[in-house]
Amino acid sequence: MTDRLDGIHALITGAASGIGTACARRMARDGAQLLLADLNGAGAKALADELGQASVQADVTRAGDIERMLDLAYQRWGRLDVLFNNAGIAEIRPLLELSEDEWDRMLAVNLRAVFFVLQAAAKRMRAQAPIAGSELRGKLIQTASIAAYRGGLAYMPHYAASKAGVVSVTRTAAQVLAADRITSNCICPGAVDTPMWKKIDAQWSKIEGWQTGEAWKRRTSFIPLGRPETADDVAGVVSFLASRDSDYMTGQAVNVDGGLVMGN
Ligand SMILES: NC(=O)c1ccc[n+]([C@@H]2O[C@H](COP(=O)([O-])OP(=O)(O)OC[C@H]3O[C@@H](n4cnc5c(N)ncnc54)[C@H](O)[C@@H]3O)[C@@H](O)[C@H]2O)c1
Repeated sequence: MTDRLDGIHALITGAASGIGTACARRMARDGAQLLLADLNGAGAKALADELGQASVQADVTRAGDIERMLDLAYQRWGRLDVLFNNAGIAEIRPLLELSEDEWDRMLAVNLRAVFFVLQAAAKRMRAQAPIAGSELRGKLIQTASIAAYRGGLAYMPHYAASKAGVVSVTRTAAQVLAADRITSNCICPGAVDTPMWKKIDAQWSKIEGWQTGEAWKRRTSFIPLGRPETADDVAGVVSFLASRDSDYMTGQAVNVDGGLVMGN
């Protein structure tokens, strides 16, 4: 626990589960004020109540929900220092079987929504005073994935494409928004033990005719640092990116993967 996020007001999407939840807990411990957003409003509210923070039910694919979420942040704090643009979905589908609807749904949540949440937050951030103790007006943090870089996940062509898109949007936003003193970075986790990976494991193991748990076991056996990744492994890095200590970083895609991207 640190006080490095004292005075920081942050919105976290996808906060009701996995990486979003671990980051909410960590950022709260580090002193941030949080608005926890999720499609699962009850889950976000339960976590917010536990942490003494605020929550909102929101579907990030809907323009009205994006505005409502940001309205709440600005009504509450009059500003937003950090956006953790993290909500996402995963689905196992072999490349030759992937349908247009499945492609569209994946890209709608993991790329289109990430872009429009970023855009809506940036429009408001550029009009606000700098963050206390910083030269920046705001910080945008996206959750991409090492799937952006390599095919390792042969059964997730649409997911990998969406995450490559998130890296691209992160970099373009960094270039365009630097003049407004807004930074944009993303994290690229590896194989993290969350409900998302439980679903990936179940679907992937079924396709291969393996027992449940086998896809996870095989995937994590390649990790150079020798153990599966936890959501807490990601949370410390996100807290750093949300803090003033990372103010001179922008346009970066930071792998937090135990070396998995190099591992197989
Ligand atoms: N688990 C991993 O191994 C891993 C690896 C790399 C990247 N990621 C990325 O990390 C992020 C979080 O993943 P996780 O593992 O914590 O998954 P998770 O499924 O545990 O949590 C995702 C959360 O996002 C929410 N969500 C989904 N669609 C939404 C929508 N339309 N609007 C609002 N909220 C929505 C869900 O309700 C859920 O609470 C995702 O972007 C994922 O792609 C995960």
